[in-house]
Amino acid sequence: MIEKLESIKNEALESINECMDEATLNNVKSKYIGKKSVFNEIMSEMSKLSQEEKREVGSKSNEVRNEITNMLELKLKSIKDEALNKKLENDKIDITLPSKKRRIGSRHPLTIVREQIEDLFISMGYDVVSGPEVESDLYCFEMLNLPKGHPARDAQDSFYITDEMLLRTHTSPVQVRSMLANAEKKPFKLICPGKTYRRDDDDATHSHQFSQIEGLVVGENISLSDLKGTLELFAKKMFGSGREIRFRSSYFPFTEPSYEVDVSCFKCDQKGCNICKGTGWIEILGCGMVHPNVLEGCGFDHKKYQGFAFGVGIERVASLKYGVTNMRDYFTNDYRFLKNFDRKEM
Ligand code: PHE
Repeated sequence: MIEKLESIKNEALESINECMDEATLNNVKSKYIGKKSVFNEIMSEMSKLSQEEKREVGSKSNEVRNEITNMLELKLKSIKDEALNKKLENDKIDITLPSKKRRIGSRHPLTIVREQIEDLFISMGYDVVSGPEVESDLYCFEMLNLPKGHPARDAQDSFYITDEMLLRTHTSPVQVRSMLANAEKKPFKLICPGKTYRRDDDDATHSHQFSQIEGLVVGENISLSDLKGTLELFAKKMFGSGREIRFRSSYFPFTEPSYEVDVSCFKCDQKGCNICKGTGWIEILGCGMVHPNVLEGCGFDHKKYQGFAFGVGIERVASLKYGVTNMRDYFTNDYRFLKNFDRKEM
């Protein structure tokens, strides 16, 4: 029996040694030390032995069992270690590898300028509104005091979709929409940024699609000095605190009087340079006091209410601020152009 135990031990140790994974090891384990293990057979035969032999076989059998249990534990640990090492080897990360550079997108210069202008006017209590780009002739021209056949329509060569509908040539129709929508005819201040379209041939300084910001204030006792003060703030915010503005008489059918506004040249401080073409002044926008016909047409009593309006070209402001000389750059989205506006505080 002692020999039998010895051979069970050798056999067990050999099978344990040969195990390559946990599942086979578990089979071996139940064969040798499980409920139906080979030791049970020995136990049943023990009754036939003498007291002396019982003691001997009992202690040998314990010894063999312990040895097998220890071996099983050691083997299990080594299988687990090996699996872990394999996993670590496979999942290895080379932390010395240089990382891939990710380009962070930048805001478009027209967006930067539009948001700066919006922020300024929001801080002065203006609402920001929008209007449709496909507009009716009625709102785009007629109600802005530009009846059919008016010569000033020629200055805004338009993309007509039908006889009555066109791509808006300016943001001024939003003036009409806002005044009509104002049911109680209460005073208000708003700006409207948006895209506009004219039948221009595209070149370095023209684009058939561009963007404007319209400003409109309607209220009691609104005068030209309010307009001038507002635009002065605008010029200082966009072009630097030392800037001055001047009004030049002009003509728009929807304002009376009408002006074109120049800002003192920020490049040469009015000494004369290529940007201001030697004059010291740069034209930036059109404006005026809302024409009584426009106010009345939209239901505002022009004896009680006055208003001022202005229209700024966003591309023009951006080109002046950032020295962009080719208008096409705004629309071709060439990365080499756009990356100049990378996340910098412009
Ligand atoms: N709508 C005019 C234009 O596009 C600009 C303007 C707006 C002028 C408001 C006066 C008042 O040329």
